[in-house]
Amino acid sequence: MAAYAYETHEYDVVVVGAGGAGLRATLGMAEQGLRTACVTKVFPTRSHTVAAQGGIAASLGNMGPDSWQWHMFDTVKGSDWLGDMDTMEYVAREAPKAVYELEHYGVPFSRTEEGKIYQRPFGGHTTEYGEGVPVQRVCAAADRTGHAMLHTLYGQSLKNNAEFFIEYFALDLIMGEDGTCQGVVAWKLDDGTIHVFNAKMVVLATGGYGRAYFNCTSAHTCTGDGGGMVARAGLPLQDMEFVQFHPTGIFGPGMLITEGARGEGGYLTNSQGERFMERYAPTFKDLASRDVVSRCMTLEIREGRGVGPNKDHIHLNLSHLPPELLAERLPGISESAKIFAGVDVTKQPIPVLPTVHYNMGGIPTNYWGEVLNPAEGNPDAVVPGLMAVGEAACASLHGANRLGANSLIDLVVLGRAASIRAGKVVDAAAPNPVLNTASVDASLARFDALRHAKGSIATADLRLEMQRAMQDNAAVFRTEKVLAEGVELMTGIAAKMGDLKVTDRSLIWNSDLMETLELANLMPNALATITGAAARKESRGAHAHEDYPERDDKNWRKHTIARVTGAKVDLSYRPVHTEPLTSLAEGGIDPKMIAPKKRVY
Ligand code: FUM
Repeated sequence: MAAYAYETHEYDVVVVGAGGAGLRATLGMAEQGLRTACVTKVFPTRSHTVAAQGGIAASLGNMGPDSWQWHMFDTVKGSDWLGDMDTMEYVAREAPKAVYELEHYGVPFSRTEEGKIYQRPFGGHTTEYGEGVPVQRVCAAADRTGHAMLHTLYGQSLKNNAEFFIEYFALDLIMGEDGTCQGVVAWKLDDGTIHVFNAKMVVLATGGYGRAYFNCTSAHTCTGDGGGMVARAGLPLQDMEFVQFHPTGIFGPGMLITEGARGEGGYLTNSQGERFMERYAPTFKDLASRDVVSRCMTLEIREGRGVGPNKDHIHLNLSHLPPELLAERLPGISESAKIFAGVDVTKQPIPVLPTVHYNMGGIPTNYWGEVLNPAEGNPDAVVPGLMAVGEAACASLHGANRLGANSLIDLVVLGRAASIRAGKVVDAAAPNPVLNTASVDASLARFDALRHAKGSIATADLRLEMQRAMQDNAAVFRTEKVLAEGVELMTGIAAKMGDLKVTDRSLIWNSDLMETLELANLMPNALATITGAAARKESRGAHAHEDYPERDDKNWRKHTIARVTGAKVDLSYRPVHTEPLTSLAEGGIDPKMIAPKKRVY
């Protein structure tokens, strides 16, 4: 192996990733006076949160009655009763405060006539515990909410003296022999140098792994890097079988068309021009939750009522909406529709198809962001020195299905919670942990082996095999046969990682090597997804199993824990947290309201 010199940096906290969750955590840590570094493979304002369009959910009640209890109920129902009640209560309660904080930091929200934050309807967000009309709960900056948030949070982080290490690719966690996380090893992409970040707390905010699939709304950078690092450290992933398909990705390229389009009055039609959602979800129609709408669209196509020459997609209609409204509230998607579908939304429908959008599963954490490593007798055992936030994590706010706009609120509420917790557990005056150099050496040996890989398969070819297998075998609808075939395919594909061929051996801007490292991260995420899905013999949220069409709370209201070693996945389960934080007597939600029941919209 080549010898790699490295520079060591010491911080109280190192945040890996600079999307919404990473920046909110970075800002919070820095505000508390912790010496904080943010290590990111892309420039912060180019992180995937920049693509978040429709908005951020919080019960501000600016447009009509709302309450955190209604928000919590909708989240519980949306999760198909797999979410953890403590997390769901914490986020719904804290959401208004977190949004006002964003406003005060400078996020340029759209405004009502009276100057309040504008809020729009979104799928699955209701009044009166699902019995009333859709609620306007989603706070928006036109249809560029994530963009607005990222710029504001980056500016605030700089103002609070957080330090950024931009275009540094985090390779591995540094784990002490006692199981404490001590930092990360990173490769600086523009000059090829290696850096060791030694910290008392590492926060993984690396985003999702949408790129395990062929067609997704996720950026090319969404390669599950945190999940990969955690799996290599012998730590588990949770609930990976739950992959969200957003109903309206542009047919073909997959770019997102925000659910806000339906929130503002858009609707879906089939080849007969029928507003088919009225048949499937008579009350909430096009504003049913995403898993439901995606399944209905897929059924319409299967039954021969898709649009286009091959009857393989659906139409999203906006042309009945006033052009001024489209220009003011949906300018971004109007432009995307023009560029990527050649459609003028004021005149023509947008061709859309359910498209992989979000990973409900991830690194298991409690609602303070502390990473969990379930052990015999302690399903909530915390890994010292390690946190995860945002889409990389599974707190579990979203359970089996996330409601639209609950992702941005997850990022800020739980990013902020992680910094509050770190403020309590990190002692700024204490020395940093003494580095386990064996862990650093193991990471560099892995890096070197991939850099010099001399096998027979190009990274792009193996990645494509994986993406096609996942697209075909872990889709909107699943069957026993297709899932079993998927496990076999993915096991074979993962085994080929040892036969990779990297042609560029340099250390500077070596995109061949970087994509190989990303593939090594995607692989455990994909394996855990397909294996967890094959094992779960029920239908719940985004996991629609045609051989087991009903939800089975008795046997399956539990979190899947997947430990991935090479191409092998070991599954176990941990209990769902069924108790909210606050009792009814103390002002909490009525437990009757959140008891499991059939999920209809
Ligand atoms: O449809 C959207 O604007 C996406 C929002 C989300 O995923 O939360």
